[in-house]
Amino acid sequence: MKIEFVPLSAEVGKACAVAAPAFDGGVLSAAAKELDKATGGAVTRAIAAGRFTGAVGQTLDLVAPHGVEAARALIVGCGARDKFDARTAELAAAHAYRAVKTSGVETLVLQLPGAPTEISSHAAFGVQLAAYRFDKYRTTEKPEKKPSVKRIQIAVDDPTAAKKAFKTLSGLADAVAFTRDLVSEPANVLYPEEFARRVRKLSDLGLEVEILGEKEMKKLGMGALLGVGQGSVRESQIAVIQWKGARDPDSRPVAFVGKGVCFDTGGISIKGADGMEEMITDMGGAAAVAGAMYALASRKAKVNAVGILGIVENMPDGNAQRPGDVVKTMSGQTVEVINTDAEGRLVLADAIWYCQDRFKPKFVVDLATLTGAIVVALGKDLAGLFSNDETLAANLLAASKASDDLLWRMPLPPQYEKNIESNVADVKNVGPRHGGSITAALFIQRFVNGVPWAHLDIASTAWKPASTVPTIPSGATGFGVRLLDRLVADNYED
Ligand code: BES
Ligand code: ZN
Ligand code: MN
Repeated sequence: MKIEFVPLSAEVGKACAVAAPAFDGGVLSAAAKELDKATGGAVTRAIAAGRFTGAVGQTLDLVAPHGVEAARALIVGCGARDKFDARTAELAAAHAYRAVKTSGVETLVLQLPGAPTEISSHAAFGVQLAAYRFDKYRTTEKPEKKPSVKRIQIAVDDPTAAKKAFKTLSGLADAVAFTRDLVSEPANVLYPEEFARRVRKLSDLGLEVEILGEKEMKKLGMGALLGVGQGSVRESQIAVIQWKGARDPDSRPVAFVGKGVCFDTGGISIKGADGMEEMITDMGGAAAVAGAMYALASRKAKVNAVGILGIVENMPDGNAQRPGDVVKTMSGQTVEVINTDAEGRLVLADAIWYCQDRFKPKFVVDLATLTGAIVVALGKDLAGLFSNDETLAANLLAASKASDDLLWRMPLPPQYEKNIESNVADVKNVGPRHGGSITAALFIQRFVNGVPWAHLDIASTAWKPASTVPTIPSGATGFGVRLLDRLVADNYED
């Protein structure tokens, strides 16, 4: 997909759809008025003949209109005129792309005369996010399902300024795509070492990447993480990604930790066959952390940041850990493994401890596709936010509002601690079925060593069977990348 900014005078050819905004009440923008004039009032007549109101999400598609070269004229709903901002532009442009994506036209020309660069660059950003596809394994596709649009032209007053503003956003969309690609990859391709290899390539962006193997982890005493991976023939890995962008190279970093279970069979506590294939997405937390680090590096964020990915495969074999096993974590605490399918928290226990121990971070945010229970509690549009720190929680909720990565705060009630008390070890890895996401968060909290911490349970949002926002196609969402980038940009840069 090619996205470019062109002058308003640029010619619109036959294989194009030309798009222009309209607002609530069917109020036409300047560009839409032009189209109306050129087509002898076809736009006004089409609005009068239909139910187009100008709301975001609506488009009005005029095919082969008289009076213009373009194959289609598209009127794009942008909502209330006085509330038309960067985020609405993102969504409206993404809707416009969707409306013509497989229509047969090759170019979508979005006409935005008079729009500030903030609006036009975000429109381009919305289209880039919306145009994501994971199609590397398709060798054939029904022609009518194949996107025909190959080029987006955003026609503006000052293409050079818009292009410049878009550069940062385009890097962010690339970071989201990096995460979506990782989450989409099947587990026969993306096993721990392959994940680590892909992360290592981030050094091209100026990130420092280290990979720890099982030998190093043994030395560090990461018995919980290693226990999860021991039933797999694939070697467990930890990736350490550092971005040093702060003016003071020694300032404490912000830290992100991700659950990277390349495939979760459940282990000996094996899952049912129904839907098990979705467990290729169980590394969505680690992929989001990698994508967030990508985003920070690509815009050279003025912050020190570290990303830790705990990467394993949870398999049942003759060497797999058993229910009832007791493992020793890097923190020194012992864990009774009641259910080998509650593996993510075991991985995080060691990854979070390692992160705090080595980096003394300002705060830790962990992201994990941790519990089915969060889907029950919050549905597929919201991820669960658990935090021991009001400032960090507030900053995350604000960043959530500003991105499309939606969070909902969940509690950490002390009276549920008893649910994970073990008779043989310091803690057990599951509690009763009810409140399962809370138990999981309380478990992780036991490995937080006096730093502000937030846990994002993204089992609900990392992968979506159907798209609900046009900038997020169905499948891997890239949830967390825009959220963390925004969190850093709005609060933690020099
Ligand atoms: N990876 C799963 C959680 C999950 C469920 C992710 C649905 C994405 C979609 C996690 O490792 C798991 O198996 N959790 C168990 C915990 C239980 C054994 C306490 C669950 O949610 O059932
Ligand atoms: Zn899992
Ligand atoms: Mn599991």
